[in-house]
Amino acid sequence: MFKRMSALLLAGVTVLAAAGCASGGSGGSGGADDGKITMGFSQVGAESGWRTANTKSIQDSAKTAGIELKFSDAQQKQENQIKAIRSFIQQKVDVIAFSPVVESGWDTVLKEAQNAKIPVILTDRAVDSADTSLYKTFLGSDFVEEGRKAGKWLVEEYKDSTETVNIVQLEGTTGSAPANDRRDGFAEIIKADPKFKVIASQTGDFTRAKGKEVMEAFLKSNPDIDVLYAHNDDMGLGAIEAIEGAGKVPGKDIKIITVDAVKDGMQALADGKINFIVECSPILGPQLMDLAKKVVAGEQVPQRVLTEETTFTPEQAKAALPTRPY
Ligand code: AHR
Repeated sequence: MFKRMSALLLAGVTVLAAAGCASGGSGGSGGADDGKITMGFSQVGAESGWRTANTKSIQDSAKTAGIELKFSDAQQKQENQIKAIRSFIQQKVDVIAFSPVVESGWDTVLKEAQNAKIPVILTDRAVDSADTSLYKTFLGSDFVEEGRKAGKWLVEEYKDSTETVNIVQLEGTTGSAPANDRRDGFAEIIKADPKFKVIASQTGDFTRAKGKEVMEAFLKSNPDIDVLYAHNDDMGLGAIEAIEGAGKVPGKDIKIITVDAVKDGMQALADGKINFIVECSPILGPQLMDLAKKVVAGEQVPQRVLTEETTFTPEQAKAALPTRPY
């Protein structure tokens, strides 16, 4: 009798486990039992051309992969992302993915997702949680390396000069991984030569409007700016308006380095208004959907998945522009 009951119980458990696999196999409590994976995705916002391309990549790839996407725009506010993640947990999605607006302050909500057995994937930006078991994997760029690439171009550009090079820096969102890392990678390279001086550095929050506003202030208080290093194209494009407004020629009177390589940035590079762009790819959707399927199926995935990227000079931008997808 006991044996028969055990067999029945075991059969029941097997059926439940199979259903769990279809709707949230890695232990996630899962969405509707319709065999479809449901992903809750919390996006940073719509602050830049890069972000728009990233959102499109994620939405398009979810469709192609047959993953139901619950998309939430945090308008660059951490509290909105935390609310969205809590709502995904309540809705029992199969997997949560998000691009954290800033690096710190995630442990509590990530622990809540872990307790609900919902796997989390970080995309684009990292968190600084010491407990890496709180997320399954992190897919995105090496932002420190991007900063180094910007610094290396500058060192090469001024290799024959003995004069001081006055640099102003437009930083990304304060506390965000790309702002911290792009600043640190750049500083690491230029510190080797004391002629490079960062005379002003301030956040432009990754937006064109703020980039313009902060560059106007830089120009007013610093008459001798040689170089602008902007942590993204959009801030660089805003700064170009400020530089032109001040009667100076961007790309000549002030050399400009940016990061991203979105179409508008690449056009400004081809036009000689920007001098060098370090690429940061927003096309993370296809890899994210692959990783999501794997973690939901309970498969092992690497802790870190790096995006492949390059750099562009004006000539390379001219060649790449006709087929640039974003
Ligand atoms: O996290 C990636 C950065 O965020 C991009 O470089 C920037 O344009 C965006 O807003």
